[in-house]
Amino acid sequence: MGFKNRDIISIRDFSKAELLHVLDVAADIERNGTGSFSQLLKGKILASLFFEPSTRTRLSFEASMHRLGGSVIGFSEPETTSIVKGETAHDTIRIVDGYCDIMVMRHPESGSATKAAEAAKNPVINAGDGANEHPTQTFVDLYTIRKTKGSLERLSIGFLGDLKYGRTVHSLSHALSHFSPDLYFISPESLALPDRLIRELESSRIKIVEEENLSRVSRQLDILYVTRIQKERFLDEGEYAKVKGFYKLDKEFLKSAKPDLKILHPLPRVDEINPRLDSEKQSIYFEQAHNGIPVRMALLGLVLGCFE
Ligand code: CP
Repeated sequence: MGFKNRDIISIRDFSKAELLHVLDVAADIERNGTGSFSQLLKGKILASLFFEPSTRTRLSFEASMHRLGGSVIGFSEPETTSIVKGETAHDTIRIVDGYCDIMVMRHPESGSATKAAEAAKNPVINAGDGANEHPTQTFVDLYTIRKTKGSLERLSIGFLGDLKYGRTVHSLSHALSHFSPDLYFISPESLALPDRLIRELESSRIKIVEEENLSRVSRQLDILYVTRIQKERFLDEGEYAKVKGFYKLDKEFLKSAKPDLKILHPLPRVDEINPRLDSEKQSIYFEQAHNGIPVRMALLGLVLGCFE
């Protein structure tokens, strides 16, 4: 399959077969042990450019590159770079492109990953561009769902929280449309999934339900994908105050859910999942974050042409 030298900008650029191929390569890596590939990318350099804060995405990409025997350069505090002297992101990308073999970038602006890919000769991986997309998180989410449910086909999946600005939701809901799901979008009205994304999903002829009250749909769900209401995306603090703390899951919630429900969250969380839920068998968000290693190892190896 054609992954070599490919940019990973939008989940829309991947066919169903390609999505599944990445998951299969990641599953092979996990089966063999993530320590079994320590020479694969020897001599290759990943540039890790984070213009926005991150824990999981940055550190799992960097750990994955190290696990594959490669090296990492980059920054997570752009204020320590020549950007403070007025250098543009475009020029920064062009310069770093000459220092590395592959780049992973997070930036607060929607569309910034596309611009970076245009500026760079080496492959660019989008680690989140504003409220737009987060495609590598989607690979992690699909991997986690398939691992826990055995298949991605015909599941009932609820998305809860900030569906307007939630880039993980935007990418994952599109990817799931390949697998004939029933999708439930549960949010306050002001944080509903954007109309253009609802229309796009409707064109895939899948069942879509929009709802504000989780308890009205909780019994239907195989997967509940919880998201944080993202204070940093609101232009108006008053608007954030209206929805802050809108959903708070506690153990009580499990009484109204299927016994084999699984709860995912891309993390970080604030108060939407009570830590008392963490030890329940339904809660798999920490495992989900750890799946970032085999999945991102697969993506790096595929794009650098070292996995078929
Ligand atoms: N899920 C995710 O993108 O987490 P970080 O912001 O910590 O990278």
